[in-house]
Amino acid sequence: MTESDFIFNNFKISTLPSGSVTWKTPSNIALVKYWGKEGNQIPKNTSISFTLSACFTQTTLEYRERQPDKLISTSLNHQDYNFDIYFEGEKKDDFKPKIQKFFERIEKYVPFIKHYQFVIKSENSFPHSSGIASSASGMSALALCIMSIEKMLNPTITNAYFNKKASFLARLGSGSACRSIEGALIVWGAHPEIEGSSNLYGIKFPYKIHDNFKNYQDTILLVDKGEKQVSSTVGHQLMLNHPFAAQRFQQAQQNSSKISKILQTGNLKEFIALVESEALTLHAMMMTSNPYFILMKPNTLKIIDKIWQFRAETGLNICFTLDAGANVHVLYPEKEKEKINNFIIKELAPFCQENHYICDSIGQGAIQTPNT
Ligand code: PMV
Repeated sequence: MTESDFIFNNFKISTLPSGSVTWKTPSNIALVKYWGKEGNQIPKNTSISFTLSACFTQTTLEYRERQPDKLISTSLNHQDYNFDIYFEGEKKDDFKPKIQKFFERIEKYVPFIKHYQFVIKSENSFPHSSGIASSASGMSALALCIMSIEKMLNPTITNAYFNKKASFLARLGSGSACRSIEGALIVWGAHPEIEGSSNLYGIKFPYKIHDNFKNYQDTILLVDKGEKQVSSTVGHQLMLNHPFAAQRFQQAQQNSSKISKILQTGNLKEFIALVESEALTLHAMMMTSNPYFILMKPNTLKIIDKIWQFRAETGLNICFTLDAGANVHVLYPEKEKEKINNFIIKELAPFCQENHYICDSIGQGAIQTPNT
């Protein structure tokens, strides 16, 4: 599919004067990382993620047809979007510029948005200051709400198109958000060996996933609950003139190909080696950019060291991955859950801020919930 397949023009607002829709949308954790983009949110390499389940955003979008006299013409200028945002019950005007930018980017594909006045009400299942980025779950929830409006204006669209376009729109809000529509494993970024993969939207991993990965666990250790030191916008930009960028993008393509096979064969040793290397490479890119950053904290390294020791001693299939921050995602198969949970509680939780961690596992994607 191409960009023009996502343009929706033939709508009649009068058929849908007002109402509200609600979506509950999960976060995701990349196994092969997306770090570097070009043009209109086009990734420099393929990325593959596990969709999560316990970490989600729930967003209600209330819409009301705008008074015709408030609509200047068919070509409204960008300041003319009409929306308010509430996060966990509080009005958040400081979130507006991000949503404004999102609306500007998606207007071409969903032009009906300028004919509505919106109230966006969002909340996260995870604590606000946990260092967990909410842009993936937040932007995908909003994209799905907008798609629900499109579906009401045009009931003929198929579920497959609905999900593809939701992912396409979410990508324009935050790249990784396009991987938060469906589960359990999502691929984003065109790859010659992964059928159906696209730079424009995420797709479900198209091959049978080995049972070893069924209900895979992710315990998120909250090492640093502070705001992100480097925004991903800045991070992606730093890849533009990065001395190792070309090698990195090539490596990510190779790793996507390797992990595709690993996910099908169920080789956990190879999975661990690849996933940990991807996490450390992401951080190595930040350490070697100009300006440079160290986003890990001393406790991040202590946790990694403990995981390595425990793995060597027990032979259990525990490993870690990292986002662009200090928190550690501990990944392991469901059948090793009991032993690994005991280890986490006893040995790793003390390195977390206030002993806080979140128990999550692979999820099946976003769900529309009845309006409250
Ligand atoms: O979606 P963005 O633009 O916030 O980028 C996120 C990138 C990482 O989370 C660091 C890696 C990834 O693939 O999710």
